[in-house]
Amino acid sequence: NSIPKYVNFLPIPFIFKPSIEFDERTGKVKSHKYTVNITEHIQQILPFGFPETKVFSYEGLVHFKYGGQRIVRSTPGPTFEALRNIPIHVQWVNNLTNPHFLPVDPTLHWANPNQFPPPSPPFIPFPPGYPQAQFPIPTVTHLHGGETSSDSDGHPEAWFTHNETKKGPAFSTSLYTYLNQQQPTTLWYHDHVLGITHLNVFAGLAGFYLLRDPNNEIEKILPKGKYEVPLLIQDRSFNEDGSLFFDSTGINPTINPYWRQNYNGNTNVVNGKVWPNLNVDRRLYRFRIVNGANSSFYTLKLSNNQSFQQIGSDGGFLRSPVTLKEVIVAPAERVDILVDFTALNPGTKILLLNEDKSADPDTTGQVMQFTVTDTQPIASPPLPFQLNDIPNLTPDVPDEPQLLNIIRTTDGTNNPLLFLLNGQTFDSAVSELPIVGSTVDWLVASTDGNHPIHIHLIQFLIISRQKFDADGYLAEWILRNGEPPIGDKPLIRVPVDPFLIDDPFPPDLNEQGWKDTVRVNSGEVARFRLRFAPQDIDPNQTAPGMNHFPFDPTAGPGYVWHCHILNHEDKDMMRPMIIRKKD
Ligand code: C2O
Ligand code: CU
Repeated sequence: NSIPKYVNFLPIPFIFKPSIEFDERTGKVKSHKYTVNITEHIQQILPFGFPETKVFSYEGLVHFKYGGQRIVRSTPGPTFEALRNIPIHVQWVNNLTNPHFLPVDPTLHWANPNQFPPPSPPFIPFPPGYPQAQFPIPTVTHLHGGETSSDSDGHPEAWFTHNETKKGPAFSTSLYTYLNQQQPTTLWYHDHVLGITHLNVFAGLAGFYLLRDPNNEIEKILPKGKYEVPLLIQDRSFNEDGSLFFDSTGINPTINPYWRQNYNGNTNVVNGKVWPNLNVDRRLYRFRIVNGANSSFYTLKLSNNQSFQQIGSDGGFLRSPVTLKEVIVAPAERVDILVDFTALNPGTKILLLNEDKSADPDTTGQVMQFTVTDTQPIASPPLPFQLNDIPNLTPDVPDEPQLLNIIRTTDGTNNPLLFLLNGQTFDSAVSELPIVGSTVDWLVASTDGNHPIHIHLIQFLIISRQKFDADGYLAEWILRNGEPPIGDKPLIRVPVDPFLIDDPFPPDLNEQGWKDTVRVNSGEVARFRLRFAPQDIDPNQTAPGMNHFPFDPTAGPGYVWHCHILNHEDKDMMRPMIIRKKD
């Protein structure tokens, strides 16, 4: 690995420039409108002097800080700056006109848009042009963490190809609406096509969506401008010619020719630049971090062992700042942190490290560098003790959690490393059918592996984790349901209580806030508390059946919940979730 570190600056993604619609009567801003093209281009991800890299990117009109505008394509895509309560309309345009440059495994759903309906395994015919070339390429974009109607949610089967000549079964529109009524936070947008998300995001289709609230008192006092830095962290490997290297030896080549359970790169790329440096002034910085990796977990820490404060989680500010020396960020999780460089001497270099046990200290164990500049130290006022008012939700029916599980299994075709939710595949009968307005607990038990579980539409709370006898539970589960996958057989939910070990323990302090993606660790049961209502509704006002959303969440193609290890979600670790009216 001969790539030099910290020789190039950290890029800051440009900000999309909307066209603004005004309300004719009041003259106030009514909405922001964007057109975003999804294209292929070449970008200098490796240090200058090294070859460029072919990527997919989001392209659109961008705004420069000091005036001026231009069309820019980049990975990460330009940043959406959304204002609370001002809706955004985005016309998504698929302008991918070449075959896919990554090895598309045609045995996965929709990885082959020419096969309609998808082939059922065992997969036999490879269309002309395969093995590697997929054409046309489907895309669909999901705003991760957004309270969005299902027509605009980027349902994994709502994809479309160039000119919308081919469309997935859940497609209804490519003009999406984001209402922005939830709390200010770091959201991100990324590709979401069932079967090739792990390739399209890897190729570059991800970007920031910063939701701001001009009336939020905390936001007003936080570092701004160049002192507020979004960091999209991803691991990548490269070929000698600069192209992205994606390991495409299928785990079981006769079943899935190219699909593998995990992807782990041998470098870290931040905001589309490998191992960048950021010069920092001697003062407080706000970093809005997204783990945009396919499957790598990061345990972030500063090389001088300096502590920092986490102020926000996926869905908004924490109740109070949490002081940390390291923070775990699983794929798709966000952490909003403050790092104070005030006391450091000019010229000091600090590394952002990844202390995850899988990381190599010389390569993947390093993420980026901060170099302290020769500036006047500027002290920042202390933060208020309370940052956010987060309710303790109460389930409608206490002691009646819904049981879900993550099971490692063979897929009936001796594919030995498949993870399933409830032993079901994506196409199994819908089993998660929450009622709008209801509050329920989900117990998510992982018999094998750590998986970041993401639920669409809502922000939720994690209440506790608890150890359990995973082998005993799995044996009992198979006894009652049969070997997974269970196909369309009705799911028998197997109580986990007899298998629980020791006492439940609370989530980490920095997880005690609004979450849309939560680590479910191997051999543990995590208790999620979900309320199928907008985040900011008074908890006493909701009732099962009452719809407080500004749209009908029971309409349209519905939602999904899934593991956010991209390779897992593309291979059936994704399930539909249909919101119901009360009957
Ligand atoms: Cu970030 Cu369903 O995804
Ligand atoms: Cu997983």
